[in-house]
Amino acid sequence: MLGAPGAGKGTQAKMIADKYSIPHISTGDIFRANIKNGTELGMEAKKYMDEGKLVPDELTVRILLDRVAKDDCKNGYVLDGFPRTIPQAEVLDSELTKLGDKIDYAINVDVPDENIVNRMSGRRACVTCGATYHIVHIPPKNPGICDKCGSELILRDDDAPETVLKRLGVYHEQTQPLIDFYENKKVLKTVDGTVDSADVFKQITDILG
Ligand code: AP5
Ligand code: MG
Repeated sequence: MLGAPGAGKGTQAKMIADKYSIPHISTGDIFRANIKNGTELGMEAKKYMDEGKLVPDELTVRILLDRVAKDDCKNGYVLDGFPRTIPQAEVLDSELTKLGDKIDYAINVDVPDENIVNRMSGRRACVTCGATYHIVHIPPKNPGICDKCGSELILRDDDAPETVLKRLGVYHEQTQPLIDFYENKKVLKTVDGTVDSADVFKQITDILG
């Protein structure tokens, strides 16, 4: 899943994972779970995340490759928020080629910057299972509680408006070039991410079949 911060990558990736019974792998969720558990990785990642910067490629790639090597990834998986730099995409590509595997689709969820800041201030996230809500657009059944696992929902530290603007800048500079990268590989599919989340999902399932 490609897209700006707040484009709805996580929301859609969860729905894809449920429909096709494959794991949803979000590097952001992995980092946040490590921060919550106070691990060394979490402490390292937090320094970058709180400033809206990317965690260094070397660390991120290692975490991701360990994760996709697990047994539950044998029948496929949906990557959310990885790769987000050209070097990450190149390493992923070469590691998958070694395994005789490849990326089937790079789904770009397209949402203009103007819509993003508003979405983020209303976001509530579950750090336990990774589910995402919006207080107006996609509210949980009980305020502050995750529908899926019953845990408490949080406002992410990096969703402060000034940090969101920094993340958008980082996105345009370092991640947007991946759109051309995957276009050249003929796997890019762009969907309109400004419509209702069910309608975004419809566009995606039309592509995935
Ligand atoms: P990460 O967790 O990946 O954050 P992000 O890319 O900034 O994206 P978000 O999770 O903020 O947005 P999303 O697209 O998932 O949107 P969502 O579905 O929640 O990364 C966080 C940080 O970790 C990075 O800044 C970096 O520091 C680090 N990191 C992670 N991966 C890395 C990597 N590969 N390399 C280096 N560093 C890395 O939706 C947003 C809101 O909108 C929600 O409230 C949702 O309910 C609502 N919404 C969703 N769809 C709709 C819709 N159609 N209409 C209305 N509202 C909607
Ligand atoms: Mg996300």
